[in-house]
Amino acid sequence: MKETQASTQNEQLAINGGEPVRTEPLPWELPGALWIGEEERELVNRVITGQSPFRFYGPDPQHMVETLEKEWCEKYGHPHALAVSSGTAALSIALSALHISPGDEVLVAGYMWVSCISAIVRSGAIPRLVDIDDTFCMDPEDLETKINSRSRAILLVHMSGAPGHVSRIADIAREHSIPLIEDCAQAAGASQNNTNAGQFGDISTFSFQLNKNMTAGDGGMIVCKDDALFDRIFALHDLGYARKDGRLDTSNEDCQYWGLGARMSDLTGAMALAQFRKLGQITGAMRTAKWKIREALSAIPELQFRNILDPQGDSGPFLITTFPEGDLCARFIEALRAEGIRGPQNSLACLTMGEWGLHWYFNIPSLTEKRSNSKDGFPWTHPANAFSGDIDYTRGALPVCDDLHDRSALLTISSKLTDRDVDDIIWAFKKVAKTLFNR
Ligand SMILES: Cc1ncc(COP(=O)(O)O)c(C=O)c1O
Repeated sequence: MKETQASTQNEQLAINGGEPVRTEPLPWELPGALWIGEEERELVNRVITGQSPFRFYGPDPQHMVETLEKEWCEKYGHPHALAVSSGTAALSIALSALHISPGDEVLVAGYMWVSCISAIVRSGAIPRLVDIDDTFCMDPEDLETKINSRSRAILLVHMSGAPGHVSRIADIAREHSIPLIEDCAQAAGASQNNTNAGQFGDISTFSFQLNKNMTAGDGGMIVCKDDALFDRIFALHDLGYARKDGRLDTSNEDCQYWGLGARMSDLTGAMALAQFRKLGQITGAMRTAKWKIREALSAIPELQFRNILDPQGDSGPFLITTFPEGDLCARFIEALRAEGIRGPQNSLACLTMGEWGLHWYFNIPSLTEKRSNSKDGFPWTHPANAFSGDIDYTRGALPVCDDLHDRSALLTISSKLTDRDVDDIIWAFKKVAKTLFNR
């Protein structure tokens, strides 16, 4: 907002009865969804016209999933990409492809998404929590203290749109000969120092669920370099076997597994392909708006921003701020919302981390209570996992996670913010800071 407007604006906070900065909600935060349009309609229509929504055969297949995989490989330089039904399925397949099973530990940060823990537990392995640092991603130093003789994989999640110390963690993984899985569900289109998210690990996964940088409603992608690993990933995502000319081929004795049934349909492929072709524009819009906001607020010392190691590679969907203490954080966010910094009903635009549910380890009851899907308490009760009895997942396990959770907040950056929206966000932060920080 221009200084002249700012100076005439009522400086009394809306939460105290003053005039709010704005009354109209900000646009929805769902990055790819707001870009769905003619391109998606055109590709979906082709699949419908061809009466062939199955990717492997049909009267007139349009090969949308195959094209998506091909373009993905071309853009990011992966030898292999396989589209799947969700990011959660992608993680399960990745762990299974690496033979993760009872007796194994998988290292994962305490700020993640429930799917990460779910995939580990369903594999029969035990999650070993690692703390985060000011990047809000896995802390490489804590990782080194947590690696032990049972460590069989590192599941590195690029949280909230940008990688943390990914190169360092990839080095640690190599030094210890532990496979690295990158979970890029929240970071499609992100990079660090010109290396794309998904290129550091042995296997990388993506999600196309509605909240992600590109979306098909649901869907996901798995990429890897190794040919044999890819054959296994393919069989596991399908019915446990390879395919030949679109039909299941059970003849190879080295490729006879139990599949997950997580194929992507060609209808989903059509949506995802149209979105993928817009991904750069979507992340570009969020990154530009977000860094304009960050820079405009950089002179407020009480507002600390998440450490993003390479701003050029930030995909931009979240602005994370950390406050001197938790009570101030909660009051700040309440005041911001009263100023109109909120989205439409049911959107999650402006939140304290305390309101951010299943992203934090101690908010996942199935983990803290060690719940099981089976009658015998598997995997916690499996003899090879007897060591898990000593692991406590309740709050207190990861001090930095606990502290940053209590003092931090998150503003989603819509991919359709106007200049006016951006100015209003900046002005609202400044207005609230002036009163709450006594500036
Ligand atoms: C970090 C992370 N991993 C995995 C997933 C799971 O993706 P999906 O919802 O497509 O199963 C999500 C998103 O929901 C996520 O944020």
